[in-house]
Amino acid sequence: MKKTNVLFAASECVPFIKTGGLADVAGSLPKYFDTEKYDVRVMMPKYTCIKESLREKMEYVTHFYTGFCWRDQYVGLYQLKLDGVLFYFIDSEFYFNGSWPYSNVYDDIEKFSFFSRMVLSVLPLLDWKPDIIHCHDWQTGLIPVYLNDSFQGDLYYHHMKTIFTIHNLKFQGTWDVRTMMEKTGLSGYYFTPDKLEAYGNGNMLKGGLVYADRITTVSDTYAEEIKTPFYGEGMDGLLRAKAGSLRGIVNGIDTDFYNPEKDTDIAKTYSIKTALKGKAANKEALQEELGLEKKPDAFMVGIVSRLTDQKGFDLIDCVMHEICDLPNIQVVILGTGEKRYEDMFRYYASLYPGKVSANIYYSEALSHRIYAGCDAFLMPSLFEPCGLSQLMSLRYGTLPIVRETGGLKDTVEAYNEITNEGTGFSFRNYNAHEMLGIIRYAKHVYENQRTNWDEMVVRAMKQDFSWAASAKKYQALYDELMEEKIVEETPADL
Ligand code: ADP
Ligand code: GLC
Repeated sequence: MKKTNVLFAASECVPFIKTGGLADVAGSLPKYFDTEKYDVRVMMPKYTCIKESLREKMEYVTHFYTGFCWRDQYVGLYQLKLDGVLFYFIDSEFYFNGSWPYSNVYDDIEKFSFFSRMVLSVLPLLDWKPDIIHCHDWQTGLIPVYLNDSFQGDLYYHHMKTIFTIHNLKFQGTWDVRTMMEKTGLSGYYFTPDKLEAYGNGNMLKGGLVYADRITTVSDTYAEEIKTPFYGEGMDGLLRAKAGSLRGIVNGIDTDFYNPEKDTDIAKTYSIKTALKGKAANKEALQEELGLEKKPDAFMVGIVSRLTDQKGFDLIDCVMHEICDLPNIQVVILGTGEKRYEDMFRYYASLYPGKVSANIYYSEALSHRIYAGCDAFLMPSLFEPCGLSQLMSLRYGTLPIVRETGGLKDTVEAYNEITNEGTGFSFRNYNAHEMLGIIRYAKHVYENQRTNWDEMVVRAMKQDFSWAASAKKYQALYDELMEEKIVEETPADL
């Protein structure tokens, strides 16, 4: 039986480059498909900021020259097989240089238009042809558009299907129409309100929404929320109109990589059976490492996050003094992002030494030690398409305290002290004192209902957030598209 060939196209992907959860998804989900039936490969830019140890393993495949944005451009193609998955890399030092994958939106629009176009251009040079291109976020939103445009002149591309997955609707890649036409090479035909124009500007994400055969997003609740004006980021009308082809498939995590039994970054490995002792040892080591007071009974709350307004830090700012006034509490932050939040956490760390630790940098290793060593994990997001950090916390038995939105609502079950059920704590409204109330309550349960807390740690660790279930849902979606493809390819008179 012929396998279904699927190409993921994404702007970031572990282990090559990661700025957020998109990289975790694009790098780990492809490992979980049934390889008897699906051949899933990944294509991403060959950034100069990818670690040298990985860049040097990439094998050269081919290169060609092409015109893009009035320049003649070199385009290289490299490949590398890792953990059974074949990754392709589009090489262009002109576009993919610098110390970070993204620059400003203006430059990124041209960079990712180029990437999207090259993903399609390079395909005929491979000895493998995708049936479906699975695009992720606005950076790849033009792939379905280009496929509908100039590539339709070539039989090779006929009936190739596309899926567009929304990881974050807030980022759309928009600029004025004239500039967009210049940068993307698309004609004015595409910049009308029924296509890529939105509120007077050109919009790359909208290209994906309008032209892809299916739209998915990363949790059921977010799939519903984005059809409303509050969460819809201006696209709610279109998403309501497209409701029939939009569905939510919740993310998973790489449970081999995020595994407290084997994690080499944490002070002491532990299993569900040894979790209480293991977590205590990790907490002690983390207090030592971060210069916090060495108190085994402190209620230690962790945050690992991009520091942006999506994540609810204004709520924390509003009540941080009240949080820090709670006896025996410790707060550990790991994150980078907007300067105002970086400064805010540095300020609180200087005000509450020994109680608050602000680590304003990126460290995969420290993130694991926080997931392992803390008692609770705070994620009061304004919106959260899925969220992976809370899944990682659950995996390490660190109980999430979340706002009931998007994937946080779908993956964290609130503690019920009557029935002794649940895996964490949640609050509904975007309100600082509601959040403070639930932090206080979690601390109360930790201190006064310790048996229930410890049982909840075990329940959290037993949750299955591996990719297996979600991969099956993507497979069903691929099957659906393959059926349509076969019908389209079958001559009408047969
Ligand atoms: P988002 O994609 O919106 O940033 P997710 O919760 O889906 O949120 O994914 C965030 C990912 O990035 C997690 O794997 C988290 O551990 C990681 N992460 C965020 N900030 C840092 C940091 N400063 N250091 C290490 N890992 C981080
Ligand atoms: C985005 C979202 C996050 C999601 C991640 C992976 O960055 O903010 O909620 O988990 O993508 O899908």
